[in-house]
Amino acid sequence: MTPAATAQPQAILAFNQLAEGYDELFTKSSIGRAQRDAVWNVLTKTFHPGDYILELNCGTGEDALFLARNSISILACDASEQMIRVAKERLRIEAPNAPVEFFQQPTERIRDLHFAKQFNGAFSNFSGLNCIADLRQTAEDLATLIPPGAPLLVCLSTRFCVSEVIWFLLQGKPRKAFRRWSGRTTAKVGEFVVEVYYPTIGQLRSSFSPTFSLRSFTGIGIAVPPSYVEPWMRRYPKLLSALTAIDKVLSTRRGFRILGDHMLIRFERVNV
Ligand SMILES: C[S@@+](CC[C@H](N)C(=O)[O-])C[C@H]1O[C@@H](n2cnc3c(N)ncnc32)[C@H](O)[C@@H]1O
Repeated sequence: MTPAATAQPQAILAFNQLAEGYDELFTKSSIGRAQRDAVWNVLTKTFHPGDYILELNCGTGEDALFLARNSISILACDASEQMIRVAKERLRIEAPNAPVEFFQQPTERIRDLHFAKQFNGAFSNFSGLNCIADLRQTAEDLATLIPPGAPLLVCLSTRFCVSEVIWFLLQGKPRKAFRRWSGRTTAKVGEFVVEVYYPTIGQLRSSFSPTFSLRSFTGIGIAVPPSYVEPWMRRYPKLLSALTAIDKVLSTRRGFRILGDHMLIRFERVNV
């Protein structure tokens, strides 16, 4: 069996195809930057210099390289061979001595990895976990890899994204506007069809229980819209700055924090 055999094959093919242009399309976009900065703000409060962190679905390695710049060591995994290839190339060019190792491994088989050192926590950014149907298994596997007391930070696409609803309704596309609401949809990426799951905060709490306890969560991209709005938003940089400032206020507010593009959840591994 190849390492990627248990992940959705169509998703892996889709991300392989996206890998080369991913940084231009998302990482370097002004919206992607604004949303990621909000995640990094929490990331640096959660993990500390000297920590050794497991990253799931790392993509092209933007967060792993950031953590390394903060003196944190990382084993960063992704199911997509091409994402890992781009990440390794970035490491070679941008920070050859950084304490980062990139490894092609689907999250569904994370348990099979054998690690020399105990992790101090784990992290998953920007919706890699929305590609996984059963997060209970992921939680069980992670519980074997990180010790009681350690943090697990996960950032997933939400089920109810207000700016997405407004954006697509204004364009007369109600199906797209409400596509997340059933909790499951298919996304067409190039010629590939990817299953995407949108668990609610309650479902996530339950999937990660009892080995992980939900400690806190924040909204990411509440006023800042999803990244596909980038071509329009680029014309209004001052508006994006204003929306970013609004997000700083709304991100922890009850009632608002589940209505963004993403939610960032901090779990803690607990003794059971
Ligand atoms: C939207 S990208 C996010 C990448 C990166 N975390 C970031 O913040 O830019 C989602 C990533 O999840 C990866 N992915 C999707 N399904 C996966 C799976 N079952 N196991 C591991 N990685 C997966 C994809 O290859 C892709 O790199």
